[in-house]
Amino acid sequence: MRVLVTGGAGYIGSVAVERLLTRGAEVVVLDNLWRGHRAAVPADVELHNCDLRDGESIARAVAEAAPEAILHFAAATLVPESMERPGDYFAINVVGSHHLIEAARRAGVDRFVLSSTAAVYGMPEELPITESSQTLPINPYGRSKLMVEQMLEWHAAAHGLRYACLRYFNVAGATDEHGEDHEPETHVIPVALQVLLGRRERFSVFGTDYPTADGTAIRDYVHVVDLVDAHLLALERLAVAPGPLGAFNLGTKEGFSVRQIVEGVERATGHHLPVAYGPRRAGDPAALIADSTRAREELGWRPTRSTLDEMIGSAWAWYQRHPNGYEA
Ligand SMILES: NC(=O)c1ccc[n+]([C@@H]2O[C@H](COP(=O)([O-])OP(=O)(O)OC[C@H]3O[C@@H](n4cnc5c(N)ncnc54)[C@H](O)[C@@H]3O)[C@@H](O)[C@H]2O)c1
Repeated sequence: MRVLVTGGAGYIGSVAVERLLTRGAEVVVLDNLWRGHRAAVPADVELHNCDLRDGESIARAVAEAAPEAILHFAAATLVPESMERPGDYFAINVVGSHHLIEAARRAGVDRFVLSSTAAVYGMPEELPITESSQTLPINPYGRSKLMVEQMLEWHAAAHGLRYACLRYFNVAGATDEHGEDHEPETHVIPVALQVLLGRRERFSVFGTDYPTADGTAIRDYVHVVDLVDAHLLALERLAVAPGPLGAFNLGTKEGFSVRQIVEGVERATGHHLPVAYGPRRAGDPAALIADSTRAREELGWRPTRSTLDEMIGSAWAWYQRHPNGYEA
């Protein structure tokens, strides 16, 4: 199978490239390296360095790559940044995805998997969140992803595009080759590990008075390899599906609190983590937990690596080999 991976120089996309190559797929990457790394893309994998906002170069790249399927990871992904610069989020995530979907249609590519997000749900009224829970994004990032999901729905109706939208909650962990190297880094586990690497003074916990067992917020974490494997299963299903598959939540329904992450980091690394406790941040729900029954039943998805020890341990091992990320 020949697959175009957008965002293949980023965190999750680079793991997808690695897993696809392991399975014997042919892979082409499209990434403008804005927040990705050339070193994250294997030297023998073709890289189209182009910007999603440039419709002509996207059309050219997709036509040249001639893939059978597209995994679309490339995006602007930071909620606070999206509140300050909504235009960038609509340009990259919505207009950029429009260019990609149109290019796919013209090139006859009819299998498409979108990286979507729990941010499409906004402040959930029910837990665990199912795919039919209300979607009411509270920031431009979540809104932009929901708009792309809706665009795909209409392309499926009009042109028979077969697509899946995988809604990630929190993603963590690393492989031997690929880990998380974001600038700025905003994700809880890498931020905690950067304290241990001497790159930050202490780990900040925002809110200790949430209505949870230990007062800190709970999130649903999936190991990046488990997450990527859901994409490979979606690709297999799309190959035989008579129509679009729609949206799937990817989570374990378990969830870990921030305090559990702190304990997990200390356990997995053997180091004390200096912590600063502060007030809640606006817009942070107490808990975000996914019901992923649909992915389990319809894709046969079975996350096997999404324990705290495995996620933190693999991320820590990667940081020890790459203390300065891909720059090292
Ligand atoms: N990491 C998470 O916890 C998480 C959670 C929910 C959803 N997601 C989604 O998963 C996807 C991948 O996330 P990630 O953490 O790997 O992000 P990332 O920032 O590491 O990777 C995104 C990649 O997209 C590329 N890119 C950005 N704008 C581009 C543009 N205009 N043209 C071409 N390439 C561009 C970047 O250079 C980068 O390599 C994103 O769509 C994100 O919204 C991630």
